Amino acid sequence: MSSLASPPAVLPLANEPCWCGSGRKYKRCHKKSEGRVLQGEVSPMRTVPDHIERPSYADTGMVDRWDEPRVKSPEIIERMRHAGSVAAEILRLTGEYIRPGITTEDVDAYAHQLYVDRGAYPSTLNYHGYPKALCSSANEVICHGIPDSRVMQDGDIMNIDITAYIGGVHGDTNATFFVGDVDPQSRQLVRITEECTWKGIEAVVPGRPISDIGRAIEDHAKAHRLAVVKAFVGHGIGEQFHTDIQVLHYYDSRGSTIMRPGMTFTIEPMIALGTWQHKMWDDDWTAVTADGKRTAQFEHTVLVTDDGVEVLTGGDGAVSPVAPWHR
Ligand code: MF3
Ligand code: CO
Ligand code: CO
Repeated sequence: MSSLASPPAVLPLANEPCWCGSGRKYKRCHKKSEGRVLQGEVSPMRTVPDHIERPSYADTGMVDRWDEPRVKSPEIIERMRHAGSVAAEILRLTGEYIRPGITTEDVDAYAHQLYVDRGAYPSTLNYHGYPKALCSSANEVICHGIPDSRVMQDGDIMNIDITAYIGGVHGDTNATFFVGDVDPQSRQLVRITEECTWKGIEAVVPGRPISDIGRAIEDHAKAHRLAVVKAFVGHGIGEQFHTDIQVLHYYDSRGSTIMRPGMTFTIEPMIALGTWQHKMWDDDWTAVTADGKRTAQFEHTVLVTDDGVEVLTGGDGAVSPVAPWHR
């Protein structure tokens, strides 16, 4: 065994011996994991001050579900506008904080304070035991990456997913940010993913089936030879973080639910450079692409209105405030 702990500047060819001295071919040894996101140490859960209203799972990690009307009252909608704008602002400020050389744990600590300052509870904290105030999903991580001791690298793409619970309701939004200097193919992936999200949002029309959303997203992704991740879907949202409405990001004729004014749900496509298939890390949260190629995501919480859609996590304070072609 060689004492080399990290790869040399010049890597072997696939069929040459691995740089680590194992005697195996490089392609059978370290090649597979090089450039991949490595799992770091996760620090203990942070606390939220007592004066901040907490969802029922905050203390136990156990999520109880109840029947919640799909069509929200005007009063709930008003509260959801506020939760949405708080989440959108935290997402934007967190994105501005991101830079090479700091850890995702640092980013979580920063965002945690932003929630607290605004009187919001970070919805992910202890949700089914999830340990942090946000999800940080780098490069080939599709979603639900846990902030840890991994240092963000120049050239990473980093999705940050913020969900704020305030006024008894949740607002859920995410965006993919560039860490330093990012290669053109990854930039294109991120741009098309944001466009896919807005194609989905523009397909929200009362009286139409919810499958219109996935169709619009999938058509746009396919036109750019990108894949739609299938395992994770948008969801109904309100007084509960996740309710029964499912928003597929690809076309499926079973999505026959008719969109009605007053419904609230998320649209959050995950788009990949390679395969749509995923694998799970052994932390049981982190989903990665099966081929290790990069993936991006954007998310908004939307309201179906009488004549279209209102983006509850959009507008002035948002990272992705309107469709890119209207900017
Ligand atoms: N915010 C994520 C979503 O868009 C859910 C994260 S749940 C967690 O639905 F437990 F993984 F944090
Ligand atoms: Co969501
Ligand atoms: Co989210």
